[in-house]
Amino acid sequence: MILKTLSFVTLGSVFTLMFIGGYVSASGVGLTCPKWPLCPAGFVPMQEFIIEYFHRSVAATTALLVFVTTVFTLRSRVSPKRMKIALIVASCAAIGQISLGAIVIIERLHAVLVTIHLGLGLVLFSMMLISVSYSYRLDNKKNETRSDSSSLRTTTTNS
Ligand code: HEM
Repeated sequence: MILKTLSFVTLGSVFTLMFIGGYVSASGVGLTCPKWPLCPAGFVPMQEFIIEYFHRSVAATTALLVFVTTVFTLRSRVSPKRMKIALIVASCAAIGQISLGAIVIIERLHAVLVTIHLGLGLVLFSMMLISVSYSYRLDNKKNETRSDSSSLRTTTTNS
């Protein structure tokens, strides 16, 4: 249950982040925060760079969620190997996105780097989608096993 919730919340966060990233790009405010990792006013959000500030804050939260989901999945004895691999790739993609985000700003929104940033975002999204589908399958399997064993218990008691 916890893996299902964590994976789903993380997927939602990645989706929201990609949405905000698209807005940052389309509205041309990608360099309103010219420093990295913090904006000119540090942790204080200001109107001049609020959208970019929002993109970075959601990125930090999303990366944290990806790492927490990965740790929980790797420690779980029931999660399948493929789900673990998907989450390891997702964690690498999150680290890559944050490093690439810095380079995108240092290189003043170089077109190739922005495109790679979008591509790696898609990799991250796909890996989270895979992990959500595995977590749902895991939950269904658990429920099936539970109902099988309870019906077996009922049959044994009746006979
Ligand atoms: C998990 C982390 C991240 C994800 C999934 C992500 C995703 C995205 C996406 C999908 C875009 C739109 C790209 C496009 O439409 O071509 C974008 C734009 C952008 N991102 Fe991120 N991002 C992440 C982290 C970061 C970080 C940490 C920074 C900076 C410190 C950053 C800086 C930017 C900038 C400056 C743009 C706008 C580029 C432009 O104006 O064309 N991103 N991001």
